[in-house]
Amino acid sequence: MRPLYFENGVLRLIDQTKLPESTVWHECCSYDQVAKAIKDMIIRGAPAIGAAAAYGTVLGMSAIKTKDKTFFFDEVKRIADEIKNTRPTAVNLFWAVDRIVDKAYENREESIEKIIEIALAEAQRIDEEDVKSNRKIGEFGGELIHSGDTILTHCNAGSLATCDYGTALGMVRAAHDAGKQVHVFACETRPFLQGARLTAYELMKDGIPVTVICDNMAGYFMYTQQISCCIVGADRIVSNGDTANKIGTYSIAVLAKENNIPFYVAAPVSTIDFRICCGSRIPIEERDPHEVTHIRGCRIVPDGVNVRNPAFDVTPNRYITAIITDMGILYPPFSKSIQKLGERLNGGGV
Ligand code: MRU
Repeated sequence: MRPLYFENGVLRLIDQTKLPESTVWHECCSYDQVAKAIKDMIIRGAPAIGAAAAYGTVLGMSAIKTKDKTFFFDEVKRIADEIKNTRPTAVNLFWAVDRIVDKAYENREESIEKIIEIALAEAQRIDEEDVKSNRKIGEFGGELIHSGDTILTHCNAGSLATCDYGTALGMVRAAHDAGKQVHVFACETRPFLQGARLTAYELMKDGIPVTVICDNMAGYFMYTQQISCCIVGADRIVSNGDTANKIGTYSIAVLAKENNIPFYVAAPVSTIDFRICCGSRIPIEERDPHEVTHIRGCRIVPDGVNVRNPAFDVTPNRYITAIITDMGILYPPFSKSIQKLGERLNGGGV
């Protein structure tokens, strides 16, 4: 299930705020519509945000009416900054927009029409590469899943959060497709309910057994030995392996260690931020308190009470058993394994 399509100058997104009740396609014809869709979480999940942002940057470029290259590139920078300003935590957003802008700049000697054509091809490459990366994560990670496993996941790191197939759920899909009996426990993921609404929806659709639990039930199911392993996605992995993911991931990781349960992070290398040394440097998005005070339009908290809504937390590397990427599985010490991965990326060797 793909959450986004780009055709004839229109980016179509499954409106993830409306799932699972209704499948509504949301159309974006301009970069500011894409920026708003990212901010409002019509499209969400690090790799899907990246691909949408790449197409959004191209939409912005296409609408610049000029023959003056200096003005064109000034405008591209302004548009790119606006798109990058939508959500601060998932590094794929910055990675994808920069990839489009860099590609345009590398081809600055071409005509503006040609530059836009090249930028669109690059956005399509980001989209296609993501699907291939997820299949690879599934291939590599499949070996860590055994028949009979009960897998706890948090948030939605599935098809809907990527360009297709998923990262954490890519591993689950690969194991399921290989004939292994797997059962997923999906934490509901307050306040936005990505687990209850999106993970449950896409796994059910694929016939993969899934049970939804409230976030505060995770410890009970781990302590009573009903969970074989935890697999989550990531919004940003930094060079020592500290990982930002949906709020609540840290609590799950600590519980997993306490109960001797492997805790796996599944993510493409585009989610690794090699420039940041440790998790405390990752910007954490704080969202509208309304998401906490209301569930599906219904107020559940007294009017006027103080509310906080950080959307992500950071899991320190010591809680992570392995990071499954599209270039292989990374094991601790992550400072070393991530550095080696960076060298492979820079030096070819891939
Ligand atoms: O706020 P969201 O829904 O964009 O957060 C999504 C997550 O935290 C996912 O786990 C992460 O982006 C990985 S998606 C493959």
